[in-house]
Amino acid sequence: MVLIDKRKEKIANLIKIEGFSAEEIYDLISIPQDSTRGDYTLPCFKFAKTFRKSPVQIAEILKEQLKDPKGFDSIEAVSGYLNFTLKSEDVIKEIIENVVEKGSNYGDSDIGKGKTVCLDYSSINIAKPFHMGHLSTTAIGAALYRMYKKMGFNAVGINHLGDWGTQFGKLIVAYKKWGDTLKGDVTVEGLNSLYVKFHDEADNDPSLEDEARAWFKKIEDGNKEALELYDFFKKVTLEEVKKVYKRLNVTFDSWNGEAFYNDKMDAIIERLEELNLVELSEGAKIVNLAKYEDNPEKSQTPPCLLVKADGATLYATRDLAAAFYRKKTYDFYKSLYVVAYQQNLHFSQIFRVIELMGEPWYKDLVHVAFGMVSLESGALSTRKGNVVLLEDVLNKAVAKSLEIITQKNPNLKNKDDVAEKIGVGAVIYSALSTARIKDKVFSYDKVLSFEGETGPYLQYSNARCLSVLRKAEIEYQNPEKAKEAFSNLTSEEIEGISDQYSKELVMLIDRFPFVVFDALEKYEPYILSKYLIDIAKSFNKFYMENRILNAEKAYVRSRLSLVYATHIVLEEGLKLLGIDSPQEM
Ligand code: ARG
Repeated sequence: MVLIDKRKEKIANLIKIEGFSAEEIYDLISIPQDSTRGDYTLPCFKFAKTFRKSPVQIAEILKEQLKDPKGFDSIEAVSGYLNFTLKSEDVIKEIIENVVEKGSNYGDSDIGKGKTVCLDYSSINIAKPFHMGHLSTTAIGAALYRMYKKMGFNAVGINHLGDWGTQFGKLIVAYKKWGDTLKGDVTVEGLNSLYVKFHDEADNDPSLEDEARAWFKKIEDGNKEALELYDFFKKVTLEEVKKVYKRLNVTFDSWNGEAFYNDKMDAIIERLEELNLVELSEGAKIVNLAKYEDNPEKSQTPPCLLVKADGATLYATRDLAAAFYRKKTYDFYKSLYVVAYQQNLHFSQIFRVIELMGEPWYKDLVHVAFGMVSLESGALSTRKGNVVLLEDVLNKAVAKSLEIITQKNPNLKNKDDVAEKIGVGAVIYSALSTARIKDKVFSYDKVLSFEGETGPYLQYSNARCLSVLRKAEIEYQNPEKAKEAFSNLTSEEIEGISDQYSKELVMLIDRFPFVVFDALEKYEPYILSKYLIDIAKSFNKFYMENRILNAEKAYVRSRLSLVYATHIVLEEGLKLLGIDSPQEM
């Protein structure tokens, strides 16, 4: 699947080389880093065999064959490359008018039409704190979710809740014994402290473990009191996390967690047994994955554990059932699991079992792994079970933002609202700012800086665009008015945005849809984050180099249109990442 660049396609179609299809030529053409080498470039190395000539000569020959086609300022053969510079005036006009026409729909595509993508992200655990360690899965998953929608896919966001396991038996015991020591409303923090207390006490009194097992059995058997407590823990947790999700602009279409698969595992195990994939090992049911490798004796691959000797199912069993359920329910084109790399083994086992079952869609399962986050000030959790809550990080970032804007812009209206957007945006951006597999160190000062490669820098650049548009009395919030304001730009006006800085910005704006598409192909939101930084930097250069409101009269409108187009890309790009854009800051 490729998102077609119409301009590049046109160039590809001009070039006829025996043995190479237009598609192959299309794939070879790229956009040079350095704009002095044209808008598009075709490296001629691959054609050496066909021509029996050097790439330098081939580029010359191809240039001769083209005979100055229409629509280019120049076509040049330079050291084995054929460089195409499009007719500046036409492309600039076309690109800007397209953005103005589409407004916030700029970059939308229907390439994913009819295809469903499941995304499993955030997937928190009931009665456990929503901590800083959940930031990456939540931010990356939700960003990919929005980008899939933008590309026309049907995206299904799934919060695969950790809502099953013997820990709920323990929690019931602890709650019944010490629940009244919790002050005020029951919170996740309170529940977690009970859980910690249970472990402390159970060290001295092993009978607590038996009680816990008995209560878990009651949950499994549908005992009324047990279920009521279990549901209560779930409700307390969900109410709390939903507040945080709201601040992060994160949504889900399904909250089916591990418990949902209780009645769906038997069928999978039966199927595995029919296929002779199950072995008994000390009473446990396993899939001996090593056996299916080329060199079983030497294999280090551990088995996939399905059912313990006591009959209990496992995390993996639930994930197998979930994968089948999602395939059946959504008939996905792809099913993504945005989960830390610590679970690499788990997912490779699940995917392998599904492959061994002969299901061709095992290929469509993707573990979107990511690295760890730590705080500059140290680890994220202590042995006592204290963790850095995501909500606390958000609050602190917002408080610091408020200090910064109060200092920078004392007269700003709605300071609290703006601080919320900056603080939360900065935290989200930090999770999306580098390749996901990298471990990250979180520093408040770095993520909140208005100058580095940060969320606030992007928001600030957008706010700068808006401030210019306001001064020019462009009603940028009304797409129809914006269209009116920038309709029918004349050649003379376009000249006002034909200098090097403006043109670079225009050509960058043109990349937006392809960047989103590329980010999806690689499951890397940071490709979009990085691109937005490039846009902001390019915009700030343009802004420094060109007068806008007090430019020559003929240039004012076109320069404003470029400011508007920049704003559209920044705001829409930030929105895809989950970041709100303040109007002023
Ligand atoms: N709740 C799990 C954890 O906190 C993550 C679940 C990820 N999704 C999945 N389908 N296994 O580690």
